[in-house]
Amino acid sequence: MQAASYSKTQIWLHWGIAALILIQFLAHDGMEHVWRAFRRGQQAAAGDIPLAYMHVVLGLAVLVLATWRLWLRATRGVPPVSGMEHPALRLLAKAAHLLIYALIFIVPLSGAAAWFLQLPGAGLVHVVGKNILLYVVLLHIAGALVQHFVLRSDVLRQMLRFRQA
Ligand code: HEM
Ligand code: HEM
Repeated sequence: MQAASYSKTQIWLHWGIAALILIQFLAHDGMEHVWRAFRRGQQAAAGDIPLAYMHVVLGLAVLVLATWRLWLRATRGVPPVSGMEHPALRLLAKAAHLLIYALIFIVPLSGAAAWFLQLPGAGLVHVVGKNILLYVVLLHIAGALVQHFVLRSDVLRQMLRFRQA
C-alpha cells in the first residue's frame, strides 16, 4: 500500500525503534557478562544482572514496536521511496529497508531463543544478525544524508515531521 507521507505514529515508531537499537548497541556489556557466565556454568556478577534484564526488556520492546510498525505499513501504507532518480539507487534503498525489517525481527527473536531456551546457536545468529543490522543501518543513514544534503530531497524532512496528522 502507498500513502502520501508517513503518519505521526509511523514517525515516532521509526525513531523509537532507532533509539532502542542504539541503546542495545551501547549497553550490551551486562548481557554479555551474564551470558558468558551462564555458558561457563559460573555465577553472574550481581551488578550485571539488572543490565541483562534491561537488554531483554528493551529488545522485546523493539519486537513489539516492529510488529506494530509492520502492521501499520500493511494497513495504512508508506510513501514511495522518493528522491532517488536512479533505479539502481531506488532498488538499493528498498533492499536496505527490507533487510532492516527482517533484522528487527530476527535479532530480537534469536536473542530471545538464546535467553529463554538457552540455545547457544541462537546466540550466534543474534550476534551475526546484530552485526549485519549495524552495517545496513550505517548504509541507510548514509543514504538519508545523501538524500538530504546532496540530492536535496524532502525524504529526511518527511521522517522528521513529528507534528503532522
Ligand atoms: C533489536 C534488539 C536487540 C539488539 C540490537 C541486540 C544487540 C545485542 C548486542 C550488540 C549484543 C552483544 C553481542 C556481542 O558482541 O557479543 C547482544 C548480546 C546478546 N543479546 Fe541482544 N539485542 C537485542 C535483543 C535481544 C533480546 C530480545 C534478547 C533476549 C530476550 C537478547 C539476548 C542477548 C543475549 C543472550 C546476548 C549474548 C549473546 C552472545 O554474546 O553470544 N537480545 N545483543
Ligand atoms: C537503528 C536505526 C534505524 C532503523 C532500524 C531504521 C529503519 C528504517 C526503515 C525500516 C525504514 C523504511 C520505512 C518503511 O518504508 O516502512 C526507514 C525509513 C527512513 N529512515 Fe530509518 N532507520 C534507522 C535510523 C535512521 C537514521 C539515523 C536516519 C537519519 C539519518 C534515518 C532516516 C530515514 C528516512 C529519511 C527514511 C525514509 C526513507 C524513504 O521514505 O525513502 N533512519 N528507516
